Amino acid sequence: MPGLNNLFRLARNTTIAAVLGYGGSAGAAELSVCVDKSSPTAEMDAALAGAVAKQEGKAVKIHYFDGDDDDGFDGFAKLAHQCTLVMGFPVAADEPVTPEGLLATAPYGHTGFVLVTPAGSSATTLDQLPKGATVAVGYQTTPNLYFPKYPSLHADVHVKESDALASLDAHKVQAAMLWRPTVASYSAIHHARFDLHDLDSTTARYDFVALYDKSNAAAAQDFDKAVVTLAHSGALTKVTSPYLDQDAAKSEPKGQKLAEATPAKEAAPAAAKPAPAADAASAPPALFTTAQAEGGKQKYADNCAICHGPTLAGRAGPALKGPTFASPTAGFTVSDIFIILSQNMPATNPGSLEPDEYVQIMAFLLQQNGFPAGDKPLTFDDANTSKVPLIYHGN
Ligand code: HEC
Repeated sequence: MPGLNNLFRLARNTTIAAVLGYGGSAGAAELSVCVDKSSPTAEMDAALAGAVAKQEGKAVKIHYFDGDDDDGFDGFAKLAHQCTLVMGFPVAADEPVTPEGLLATAPYGHTGFVLVTPAGSSATTLDQLPKGATVAVGYQTTPNLYFPKYPSLHADVHVKESDALASLDAHKVQAAMLWRPTVASYSAIHHARFDLHDLDSTTARYDFVALYDKSNAAAAQDFDKAVVTLAHSGALTKVTSPYLDQDAAKSEPKGQKLAEATPAKEAAPAAAKPAPAADAASAPPALFTTAQAEGGKQKYADNCAICHGPTLAGRAGPALKGPTFASPTAGFTVSDIFIILSQNMPATNPGSLEPDEYVQIMAFLLQQNGFPAGDKPLTFDDANTSKVPLIYHGN
């Protein structure tokens, strides 16, 4: 998606937890880290923190919190005051956004959403799945956004990603699109084997970082240095395999081959790309009226700005303006975005606005991304079906 960051983060961000009352700041010879025990990477994050502390000659203190408890967006800020580093935060590789007020270390690994098929299956891309195939996905995760491009595929949506994988494991569906760490942890617990294939979208790729408050900048720098050392010695791969990409070769030979054969930039299948680069240069069409965009501005401020920022620059949610959001390479259309915002937004109360309010907000987003206003109002049906490429035309 144009910076369609990830519905995974939606789950993460909206549900970050209060930390149990341990408080107290870390001593000099101690690396204190927060680890989300509900994340499939919890073990990896704790192990990495241990390896880094050892490298630094420090003791490690791990504070587990439950990211599934609902503590809204303040959760991270609170966490960052309880420990030096909050481990295991995924940021979209094409549009890194961290919770407001917090900084991120250099990425210590890459991972993302993958196409999961039964071991030995011949299909390695969505195109190769049989017509009418059913694909399991997690509720409100990024891969939901890929279905509009593949009308012959059916989505089987599960609240928990692990249930989506269980559905594949039980041969109820032909494939799944899931967060790689979820597959790794499920496979370890259930001794299951699947083939994993990188999805052909830059929006499926994530960097793993640790978050910190600026008062802990020095410790974060030490962390970065230690990670580099661990990477050189091979210790990093040991800790992060098989959750992160680097070691994909061992557990998923096919996925790895595919990943090497299709660099991210050329990855999107030609048939699924409505936005040839030439369109980016040509003048955008007038799709809405000034009155609609004006109305949308207020509706946006009331319902969306809290997460996407008053200037659409992003906050807890991704930016909704600019070349990363409305990127020609991502190849998304007005309807792709409209479907997300009218069905999944506001994240806390999806679908709660009137159809016309969504249309106005869409007009406002288009205007903000450099589309001109015209005489003809945008209708709900137009917005829902428009194949006009959503490309940033501003400067
Ligand atoms: C409670 C926070 C929250 C609110 C309120 C909210 N969003 Fe979002 N939104 C998110 C998060 C988090 C994501 C990223 C998750 C994802 O991509 O799955 C997102 C993703 C999106 C996307 C996909 C963009 C992209 O490139 O990833 C669009 C479009 C969007 N929101 C529009 C809206 C609109 C319009 C409103 C108001 C009607 C709104 N959102 C309200 C949190 C919110």
